[in-house]
Amino acid sequence: ADEPLVLGIETSCDETGVGIVRGHTLLANTVASSVEEHARFGGVVPEVASRAHLEAMTPTVERALEQAGLRFSDIDAVAVTAGPGLAGALLVGVAAAKAYALGIGVPLYGVNHLAAHVAVDQLEHGPLPKPSIAMLVSGGHSSLLLVPDVATNVISLGSTVDDAAGEAFDKVARVLGLPFPGGPHIDRAAVEGSGTAVAFPRGKYDDGTLDFSFSGLKTAVARWVEAKERAGEAVPVADVAASFQEAVVDVLTRKALQACRRYDVKDLLIGGGVAANSRLRALAQERCDAAGVRLRVPRPGLCTDNGAMIAALGSELVASGVSPSSLEIPADSSF
Ligand code: KG4
Ligand code: ZN
Repeated sequence: ADEPLVLGIETSCDETGVGIVRGHTLLANTVASSVEEHARFGGVVPEVASRAHLEAMTPTVERALEQAGLRFSDIDAVAVTAGPGLAGALLVGVAAAKAYALGIGVPLYGVNHLAAHVAVDQLEHGPLPKPSIAMLVSGGHSSLLLVPDVATNVISLGSTVDDAAGEAFDKVARVLGLPFPGGPHIDRAAVEGSGTAVAFPRGKYDDGTLDFSFSGLKTAVARWVEAKERAGEAVPVADVAASFQEAVVDVLTRKALQACRRYDVKDLLIGGGVAANSRLRALAQERCDAAGVRLRVPRPGLCTDNGAMIAALGSELVASGVSPSSLEIPADSSF
């Protein structure tokens, strides 16, 4: 076990995540979430998130060390999300990581959050085939990436031009009177409904790009529900949930497989909170099987924002001989 012990810190959105890895071995993964504090606002409030990170940072780091049975002095490197994310939230993690790196006397690695969502899968499924295609779908991002090497070369192929996929789930859930965050509630409601009950629009379905658009779909659902309500009719929540979900996962899986075909890649990874969606997993598996593409989806705890993913990418950077960051690195929301 000559590989370095890497501590990872994630604070780009509403999860304070701390992870510890050695190579591809996960030793600790602790998360404190402020999601409940945002629930009544129907979305993440940056100021609330920053303050929650500040309060959660020290205890979450201490719990991670405890979980791994380690002390600060055992840590060989500190990795932190430098961006993209909420500026004030990132700042808390970056400041903490600098202090830990300086205090322990080890190198600091500022890492890209999206690449970290990709790297984390190696903790569960081993080395990532080179190249792979990755689709990251969460409340904050929807991206297609070509990944020749997760440590040194991650190429953006497309992303959402408006709402993120998870954001669309959350907004439609709100229209349907379901709690925040709405993704899991829509997933559950959809089980009782039909994905073909309502033909909702599929933005950018055939436009030849690898970009996504979900705001038209979100608006179409809202209009459809309003029309029902105005007519004094009951809203068939399960059917609307299922039909909306079908429209999202149809576009996501179609574009992901287009990317595989276009770049002749046989391995697809799906990550981010929306990767927990049961219909997305099922349709992605079906379409991957038909196309001869191998599908990798990390378990839910590694799909949502967490510290292990940051440690996993940090560990990859160390192994690849990438130079550490300066202690002056900024938090960069557009990193
Ligand atoms: O990765 P994540 O925990 O945080 C970021 O947004 O970065 O993702 C949270 C998002 C939320 O929008 C949530 O509604 C969505 O993931 N989500 C789901 C499901 N579980 C979580 N969306 C659809 N189906 C699910 N089962
Ligand atoms: Zn994320």
